[in-house]
Amino acid sequence: MSASSNGLNGATRDANAPVTIRTLRAMASRGETFACLAAYDATTARWLERAGVHVLLAGDSAAEVILGLPRTVHMPLEVSIALTAAVKRGAPRTHVMADMPFMSYQASPDDAMTNCGRFLTEGLADSVKIEADASYAPLVDRMTRAGIPVCAHIGSRPQTAALTGGYTSAGRTADEARRIVDDAVALEQAGALLLLVEAVPDEVSRAIITRTTAPLIGIGAGPACHGQILVVHDLLGMTDHPPRFAEPVASLGPAIEQAGRDWVRRVREGSIGGVRYTMREGEAERLSPGQAAPPQRIRSDSEPESVS
Ligand code: KIV
Repeated sequence: MSASSNGLNGATRDANAPVTIRTLRAMASRGETFACLAAYDATTARWLERAGVHVLLAGDSAAEVILGLPRTVHMPLEVSIALTAAVKRGAPRTHVMADMPFMSYQASPDDAMTNCGRFLTEGLADSVKIEADASYAPLVDRMTRAGIPVCAHIGSRPQTAALTGGYTSAGRTADEARRIVDDAVALEQAGALLLLVEAVPDEVSRAIITRTTAPLIGIGAGPACHGQILVVHDLLGMTDHPPRFAEPVASLGPAIEQAGRDWVRRVREGSIGGVRYTMREGEAERLSPGQAAPPQRIRSDSEPESVS
């Protein structure tokens, strides 16, 4: 694929060069906003890499979007590792971030180290994200010393939603905003190479950028952030109740529904389309002597036989 065929006119991404932390830092310092999405499977990841998306997060939102579970805290660790690896296989040149699920890093630092290592080895991830405040600085320090690139997710933290009674915004008072900025500073000092801030006013994002140097990825955090992320299902219009900050750019939900209706009708009418296989020369006659169907050649024997 040429740089111009990814829709970016070669301006922001060489489609063949892998996106690394260094790429993201360079883009942030040049004032070029990078595009991130939470995605969970190889096929979607492949299309998004072709589109020039820079970062794919195998988010714990898969609990809700993929597994149909009530909250992100229900995301199983093993599934999360498998989905992360699937995304990387689909998008080998994109920066793939693993999202460490609830209780894979909170229970003990040793468990956290083992689990984040698995995301890099088995999950093929380029970095791991943890939801954190300043109290996680020692863990971020230990992960970083072990060679694991960490993204610290601050602001609204869905894995702590039980404390507030649901997913909420954050940083809307000066005291809370100051705490979030202090979290960002402490986590960066501990080694976090990327920061992600969720559901905060623009002022909070701007204050974080003033006090830190790590690229800041925002979700519902205003245009000042160096990178922007959404859940791909929200972007594509496949979610019944997307968050208010997620503006869809397509209506794939209704399109899937219509395609399903068309299939139901075609099945009912017996017009399923596609290739039909024919028996080899003389075989139909051997199966039901005297009742062989008239020869009908649809696919030549020399064509590769594919049922996919
Ligand atoms: O899991 C998720 O989708 C996230 C968001 C920040 C994109 O963590």
